[in-house]
Amino acid sequence: MSNRIISSDADEFDDQIELSLRPQKLSQYIGQHKVKENLKIFIEAARQREECLDHVLLYGPPGLGKTTLATIIANEMNVNVRLTSGPAIERPGDLAAIVSSLQPGDVLFIDEIHRLPRAIEEVLYPAMEDFCLDIVVGKGPEARSIRLDLPPFTLVGATTRVGALSAPLRDRFGVLLRLDFYDEQSLENIVIRSSKLFNVEMDQKAANEIAKRSRGTPRIANRLLKRVRDYAQVLGDGTITEELAAQALELLQVDPRGLDHIDHNLLISMIERFGGGPVGLDTLAASIGEERVTIEDVYEPYLLQMGFIQRTPRGRVATTLAYEHFGYIKS
Ligand SMILES: Nc1ncnc2c1ncn2[C@@H]1O[C@H](COP(=O)(O)OP(=O)(O)OP(=O)(O)O)[C@@H](O)[C@H]1O
Ligand SMILES: [Mg+2]
Repeated sequence: MSNRIISSDADEFDDQIELSLRPQKLSQYIGQHKVKENLKIFIEAARQREECLDHVLLYGPPGLGKTTLATIIANEMNVNVRLTSGPAIERPGDLAAIVSSLQPGDVLFIDEIHRLPRAIEEVLYPAMEDFCLDIVVGKGPEARSIRLDLPPFTLVGATTRVGALSAPLRDRFGVLLRLDFYDEQSLENIVIRSSKLFNVEMDQKAANEIAKRSRGTPRIANRLLKRVRDYAQVLGDGTITEELAAQALELLQVDPRGLDHIDHNLLISMIERFGGGPVGLDTLAASIGEERVTIEDVYEPYLLQMGFIQRTPRGRVATTLAYEHFGYIKS
């Protein structure tokens, strides 16, 4: 599953290319207009007041640009960014070490903040509200609490599961921003921007071909672009044309709507074995040999978003769109 080319989770190769493709300024960040407009105002206001930016919570599906935005916020505020993640902070001491090393105004980015241990969350509250830490030193009757003053900082939290965040933590963020799947036009612009950074020739139609198959996700768009570039280099003269892009993506088994063989398997199974549904999640999972949670968390969100399936109280239903996609007629 992790080596699905259209997975929205980062793999080791993404990490390498993402560094070079990541926009550094808000003006280079494509799409997400509402998020950008809001951030622009908050950043400008904080700068005018010479204060640090309010704490920001970014949420939305993987690969939409949360980490990118955190770095951009720091760049726009002219401060440093310190990157860490919820599961990496195991003990209060870990958090204390990180926050006490910040310069005034710095951005602390905590990825997957919903996975922060509860004990750490409690240490984080006063750090967010009053810029201080209460640390317990010593053990048993010797134990005492000391208060540590911190430089003012901006916490930027990111999560793919905002519902898993505790209410007290969520409430301590002044700015909550939701990232949505990108529209085709924005993805096209992202592909064109990346192709320039890759120094590869490509026309707009070719970029659109990749954009349409990228499942609304910049990370997937960049990954597909990279693979198509390989095809262009070996099978053509290095230039990416619409035809070559379509051919390459066909070979990579990503169809014109961005579905791969696993999506096909799932939808065709619903149509052929279950008459289009409703079929229960467990039955469906067993029939294609997958875990229920994998279907729910990984396969289903895009299919729901695209309108290929619907959730009903009695189970999942394949829509007319799904039937038509495979050349079936829904009776
Ligand atoms: N708005 C954008 N404009 C241009 N490129 C973007 C944009 N958003 C994301 N990207 C590209 O997509 C890649 C993935 O983005 P990023 O790593 O920020 O996603 P993420 O939301 O943090 O994902 P995850 O949830 O897996 O941590 C980046 O390297 C960047 O090149
Ligand atoms: Mg990230």
